[in-house]
Amino acid sequence: KFPTAAVAARYVAKEIDKLVRARNAAGKPTVLGLATGSTPVGLYRELIRMHKEEGLDLSRVVTFNLDEYYPMPKESQHSYFRWMHETLFGHVNIKWENIHIPDGTLKPEEVDAACAEYEEKIKSFGGIDIQILGIGRTGHIAFNEPGSPQNSRTRLVTLDSITRRDAADGFFGEKNVPHHALTMGVSSILEARRIFLMAFGEHKAGIVYKALEQAPTEVISASFLQDHKDATIVLDEAAAAELT
Ligand code: F6R
Repeated sequence: KFPTAAVAARYVAKEIDKLVRARNAAGKPTVLGLATGSTPVGLYRELIRMHKEEGLDLSRVVTFNLDEYYPMPKESQHSYFRWMHETLFGHVNIKWENIHIPDGTLKPEEVDAACAEYEEKIKSFGGIDIQILGIGRTGHIAFNEPGSPQNSRTRLVTLDSITRRDAADGFFGEKNVPHHALTMGVSSILEARRIFLMAFGEHKAGIVYKALEQAPTEVISASFLQDHKDATIVLDEAAAAELT
């Protein structure tokens, strides 16, 4: 628990910084799993600052994003592809070919094979070293909405109505929010060696309590993190308010 989201973001950025510098020194890649949304913005800002001011070299970093709306053109102002480039990738030296984001432009008949390929790609880089997560008000991690099994993998999902409502502001209204998304599964996420789930603000306090202090359940996919051997829940005071 940190006094503010900014201090919390600096803590996670520092953990990434340490790993990337150690891997760089050994001439090895660092594989990061990345999230979009409001939660990781401070973290990405801090990584950009470290890159620009402290010489953090991200040229060996390989990234896999958790999810993308479907269908979604890459150039759309609503795409996670565009958001990631504007918020992080356009400001650091991560190589274009090392960036992976589920592809919202796939034809329906291509989706299953592409999802399997995404999983294979992660494996081909030796798995994810550090996975960054936010948590939705439905308790989702990535877009694993209530009912997502613990053994779920990258796939096409239907978004919960609460999630679509929460996204409405960015889409000029709920009716414009896509009904579907491509998402890494619970199992794909739990295979990461180290996980940081970040949650800030009082609107996250209720779901943080349920995810951490109630028994793991498919109804709240974040609750499965309780079984992970190296998951850190990074909160500000407000998000931690309901924890006992
Ligand atoms: C985004 C993602 C989602 C968000 C969650 C919280 O890539 O996977 O699970 O992390 O919906 O969103 P914010 O941070 O906007 O509250």
